[in-house]
Amino acid sequence: MQEKILILDFGSQTTQLIGRRLRELNTYCEIVPYNKAPEDLQAAGIRGVILSGSPYSVYDSKAFHTELSRFHGKLPLLGICYGAQSLVHQAGGNVEPSNSREYGRAHLHLNEPGNPLLKNISEGSTVWMSHGDTITKIPTGFRLIAGTEDVPAAAFQIEGEETWGVQFHPEVYHSEEGLKLLENFVDRTGIKGQWSPASFIEQTVKELKNQLGDDKVILALSGGVDSSVTAVLLNKAIGKNLTCIFVDHGLLRQGEFERVLEDYEHLGLNVTGVNARDKFMKALAGVTDPEQKRKIIGKGFIDVFDEEAHKLKDIKWLGQGTIYPDIIESINITGMVIKSHHNVGGLPERMNLKLVEPLRTLFKDEVRRVGLELGMRPGLIHRHPFPGPGLGIRILGEITPEKVRILQEADHIYMSLMQEWGLYDKVWQAGAILLPIRSVGVMGDERTYEFTIALRAVTSTDAMSADWAHLPYDFLAKVSNEIINKVRGVNRVVYDISSKPPSTIEWE
Ligand code: XMP
Repeated sequence: MQEKILILDFGSQTTQLIGRRLRELNTYCEIVPYNKAPEDLQAAGIRGVILSGSPYSVYDSKAFHTELSRFHGKLPLLGICYGAQSLVHQAGGNVEPSNSREYGRAHLHLNEPGNPLLKNISEGSTVWMSHGDTITKIPTGFRLIAGTEDVPAAAFQIEGEETWGVQFHPEVYHSEEGLKLLENFVDRTGIKGQWSPASFIEQTVKELKNQLGDDKVILALSGGVDSSVTAVLLNKAIGKNLTCIFVDHGLLRQGEFERVLEDYEHLGLNVTGVNARDKFMKALAGVTDPEQKRKIIGKGFIDVFDEEAHKLKDIKWLGQGTIYPDIIESINITGMVIKSHHNVGGLPERMNLKLVEPLRTLFKDEVRRVGLELGMRPGLIHRHPFPGPGLGIRILGEITPEKVRILQEADHIYMSLMQEWGLYDKVWQAGAILLPIRSVGVMGDERTYEFTIALRAVTSTDAMSADWAHLPYDFLAKVSNEIINKVRGVNRVVYDISSKPPSTIEWE
């Protein structure tokens, strides 16, 4: 049983970040809704519990409550913001609305510098506050260990217990020594540093063998990191009982299908490459609406995959590269599905397959570490995210074979130069977009009337927000020059300087 820290989610926007930070300490953790902790904590491998913040106040009628006495005193416990206030509230202390809501930087005064939670934390350390309520009276048996100018009860411990509460958010990056504080907490659980890519692979392969036995699994490869690492892990566990399907919808980057297929074969995967370019091109003819294009590509993909799967016998499982943020984003704490992240939505039901998702507990950078540990080529592991509908949503308006050719050539020049100039790994994602307008230019003595290519490159950590990448002018000049000179049908190149929000990364 994997030992772990359990994070109870009371709905804060930073809950996921708590998990992220523990993983930075190579410590395994799982986030569950506030009321979904396993009955038998010990048997579930839980060695510590963290209570998250919440958008509610403890006295709100809608507030999420769970009986905390089943945790504290039994194993190390840390309440953050609302979590700390809940500990106080349930023990008979007072939590009240602050006169002024407290947001932003504050500085810690340590009442008890020797407290294990405050080990190596400096006097005056910057912490990040974000709360509308304050603890105004702490219950008996609670000891204040740190305060700030405005918040005397910034951190406390319950006497005789490994239970702490902090009013600030150690998980956010603005809390300068927040990671250290979390590390101090993790130290108390005795499981710090047990997670590593190698231990994850060993454990997962063992579990997959048990779960799948001699069953057959089918998996759709996209060329992306998640599905590729999933395939290699499954292959390690069940070998030829895994069949992978890699569909070419004709909207991949130039040479991508062949190159990635070759990678997959080198990795020893049992993979079938399906060229379905014509089928997709026909289905997309004359369609201009972005959502309509997405639907057609999604459906076409499922049809091709389904057709291939039916050629195989006795498939019981569908492998998917679902990763942890997908799961967290999919389920909110009231149990409602916000976004369904099935890359091949509807397939498991339609084909009556069970789902196997070996990466469902990992963050993206952990998936990359696992991939490298599995011996996968860094080029395959560090690829930029690329949308499922591919160039289909980067050709604005109608898609034609000629436009695909233009965009593939322009994108290839852009990406190759990015690699050459050492910029590829510095941005989150980049690509070229073909605009549906023509403009006037002059080449030699001739007037031209041709398409415009927009270049997009963004920095981001999670694609939820992004900034345009400040690429060097010399680089942009070189790319523009190469594209206009070499790609027939283009006479103008522009650079997109919009951030997300309010723009999005893709143009459609
Ligand atoms: P946006 O454009 O919403 O993109 O800022 C955020 C991230 O999601 C990717 N993206 C998609 N991925 N199917 C996908 O598989 C899609 O329809 C799709 N639309 C956007 C985008 O490339 C970026 O990484």
